[in-house]
Amino acid sequence: MADWDLLMTGPAMPVIAERLEQAGTLHRYWTFADPEAELAAIADRIRILIATFHSPRIDAAFLARFPKLELVSSFGVGYDHIDAAAAASRGIVVTHTPGVLDAEVADTALALTLAAVRRLPQAERYLRAGKWLERPFPLSPSLQGRTMGILGLGRIGREIARRALAFGLEVVYHGRRPQDDAPYLYYPTLKSMAEACDILMVVAPGGASTRHIVDADVLKALGSNGVLVNVARGSLVDEAALIEALKDGTILAAGLDVFENEPQVPEALLALDNAVLLPHVGSASEATRLAMANLVVDNALDWMAGKGPRTPVPETPYSRR
Ligand code: NAP
Ligand code: 8YV
Repeated sequence: MADWDLLMTGPAMPVIAERLEQAGTLHRYWTFADPEAELAAIADRIRILIATFHSPRIDAAFLARFPKLELVSSFGVGYDHIDAAAAASRGIVVTHTPGVLDAEVADTALALTLAAVRRLPQAERYLRAGKWLERPFPLSPSLQGRTMGILGLGRIGREIARRALAFGLEVVYHGRRPQDDAPYLYYPTLKSMAEACDILMVVAPGGASTRHIVDADVLKALGSNGVLVNVARGSLVDEAALIEALKDGTILAAGLDVFENEPQVPEALLALDNAVLLPHVGSASEATRLAMANLVVDNALDWMAGKGPRTPVPETPYSRR
């Protein structure tokens, strides 16, 4: 397999490079002193890209630089940083890491929900500041009696639903179509679901079709007892509208793992006491990130061995013969 040249677009867990270096020549884009010149020197040899979320966008123009490109193996299940349709039109396969992170992200989603509703981070800050010595922490809203509306009842959404039921919540959902095997009430529009629930759990993919799908109207429909939790992508939520809704009491609280321009988080959001903010840690346990990293490598190695991609994205042109 010595004639395989691979390009990593951004830094990633060491296991990825350690394993891939056994199989081919690995180039590291983000370490190039002169990215244009160094990329030009190797581009016509690159057959595999190893992509990470926090790396340059893999759009049609970037893909076009690699005439022999066969595969983009991406870290993470979300692949809105890759133009998968442009890749497909050139016969390039794109893979991602579905399934291995569902439980971890669902755990984080429930933790974020509880933290936002019961104000647990605020309570911890209160204790550390010595304020408990003065008086008890104020009473919080309750999780109990709530309905969780899941925007995106997919692999992770279903795991979130199972956990929500165990916490005693009602579960309803919205997606582009009802799912025959889902035992939850379906809402054909996001606004009608927002009116019917008081926790809106966002876990649908990012990209043009879902950009700002949670806007001022949806937040108004969620209402003054409503809690928005976003573990999907920052792009799904109109962040400026959310900040206003949190400020003026249009909704009660928010729990956010993802942001429109991460890792930049607006000062106005940082200043809000009714927002619980996490630095995109949904899948970030050691074990889950290792499983994701190994799947990135396995997709590449399977391809190099002629076995086809292990976990291709739906748009990808490959079909098993
Ligand atoms: P998935 O299995 O593909 O599920 C996505 C769900 O979203 C599907 O049920 C789909 O249902 C729905 N959906 C797709 N497009 C929609 C649209 N335009 N409007 C409404 N619903 C739509 O994906 P997954 O594996 O559960 O992952 C979901 C997302 O979570 C990923 O794309 C990623 O961005 C995010 N994520 C975040 C973290 C984190 O660390 N915070 C970790 C992992 C994943 P229909 O097809 O019926 O519409
Ligand atoms: C990763 C994610 O943290 O899988 C996803 O879509 O958002 C997360 O699991 C992300 O890919 C950053 O590397």
